[in-house]
Amino acid sequence: MLNLDHLISVFDNSLRTLLAPARSARPHPDTGVADTELGEAERALSAALMRVNHTGEICAQALYQGQALTARNINARAALKCAAAEETDHLAWTAQRVEELGGRVSVLNPLFYAGSFALGAMAGFAGDKWNLGFLAETERQVERHLATHLDRLPAQDGKSRAIVTGMMADEARHAQTAISHGGAELPRPLRQAMKLGSRIMTESTFRV
Ligand SMILES: [Fe+2]
Ligand SMILES: [Fe+2]
Repeated sequence: MLNLDHLISVFDNSLRTLLAPARSARPHPDTGVADTELGEAERALSAALMRVNHTGEICAQALYQGQALTARNINARAALKCAAAEETDHLAWTAQRVEELGGRVSVLNPLFYAGSFALGAMAGFAGDKWNLGFLAETERQVERHLATHLDRLPAQDGKSRAIVTGMMADEARHAQTAISHGGAELPRPLRQAMKLGSRIMTESTFRV
């Protein structure tokens, strides 16, 4: 059951995600990777792509927090918590890289946070099988999306590429974890709708 404590913690988490700098429990994957000089156009492209990935991680925070609030199964909750901690690392990695590239994070973050939180909570209410299925599909789509960024990021931007590669490995594992805890395959129309939603997110935050 939801109670006031839960709601206060949700509010607290959302403010922290949106306003406070995230801290990574693990070393950033680009530590030790040479910071190569980038041309102006390349730098702007990298900053925009890493801004998109940062918003993706804001969405991941919201999704996991929404799901954790409503997931019933104890094991599922524990698995979600562990993956959510790694998503916090991703948030810290992308935020730092956006800053290093002289970019800024998206002004649309609060909007996407709210939308993702609602989606996560709804998935949680649908029961663990669908909750975990939704999570697995999200992680798969994020992994594929990140692979496209490896094609688009400038070849010289080794630091951004190292971060994206590190995230991809985690997202693949998160999908696997969700499936192994009983996540169901989502119906095709829902998968398509999720793709459309993430396209709206990626195309808008690439600009603002
Ligand atoms: Fe992530
Ligand atoms: Fe993930």
